[in-house]
Amino acid sequence: MIRKAVIPAAGLGTRFLPVSKSQPKEMLPIVDKPVIQYVIEEAADAGLRDVLMVIGKSKRAIEEHFDRNFELENALAARGREAELEAIRRISTIARMHFVWQRELNGLGDAVAYARDHVANEPFAVLLGDTLIESDPPLTRQLVRVFERFRDPVVLLEEVPREKVHRYGVIAGTEIEPGLFKITDLVEKPDPSNAPSNLAIAGRYLLVPEIFEHIDSTPRGKNNEIQLTDAMRSMVKNRPMYGLKLNGRRYDIGNRLDFLKTNIIYGLRRPDLRDDLAAYIRELAAGMPKT
Ligand code: UTP
Repeated sequence: MIRKAVIPAAGLGTRFLPVSKSQPKEMLPIVDKPVIQYVIEEAADAGLRDVLMVIGKSKRAIEEHFDRNFELENALAARGREAELEAIRRISTIARMHFVWQRELNGLGDAVAYARDHVANEPFAVLLGDTLIESDPPLTRQLVRVFERFRDPVVLLEEVPREKVHRYGVIAGTEIEPGLFKITDLVEKPDPSNAPSNLAIAGRYLLVPEIFEHIDSTPRGKNNEIQLTDAMRSMVKNRPMYGLKLNGRRYDIGNRLDFLKTNIIYGLRRPDLRDDLAAYIRELAAGMPKT
């Protein structure tokens, strides 16, 4: 059984400055809920209720969000605001939270290495704290199913346009059944002209403790960082690894445009906001010059 999730959330978030200077981008709201809460709910939905967050400077708001706030609870109770009180109380019960500080920002591989003691000898999931995935069934649940079949690591893959592969870790592999790939190689941020495919690793991983040995022997790679993709590249030489193609949507909240689009999409789904927001969007669109 897989019980543990690791959430790297120590990055600087330079694509989202200035707001990320003193606030974690993982706390950016999608309507009125921080993105990190959606991520932890996805893990908990898959039965992963032990969550280790790898955090860094300026990330205290994440800890506070998952702690109880008795003053707020008392104030809501005194005002009879039962629904909000219930929603606030529930946050601290979604998962058992643990925190570890990444001392230096040496990349995603280095961030994951901080989970070594906590995960010990168990398989574990890694969910990027700034990435929201919408799929049915929820994505981490799907990865757990694949892991339970093969007992080998599995990552989420997304088809991206060729000209964008240089932003991602990309795999080479063969499709062994619809949407499921056996991975033969992985390359971090390849040049589009020699990328092995347009299948990018997309923010969700199910890994085994063996990965830590490979991280230890991984030299600094792209951007002078210890890349998780490079450690997985070393692991796939010794052990099978699978990729599951995304059947759904991924929103990278660390990217401004994705953040704005996601808020509109989620806002339009909310019964309390839908009609007014839709009317406003129509009004705005009507006044926009055609490009
Ligand atoms: P990103 O590539 O989004 O980097 O990291 P970033 O620093 O967060 O943001 P930008 O690119 O400067 O805007 C992918 C994930 O890995 C985590 C980040 O928090 C994010 O969830 N990460 C990255 C770490 O935890 N530690 C690191 O050293 C680097």
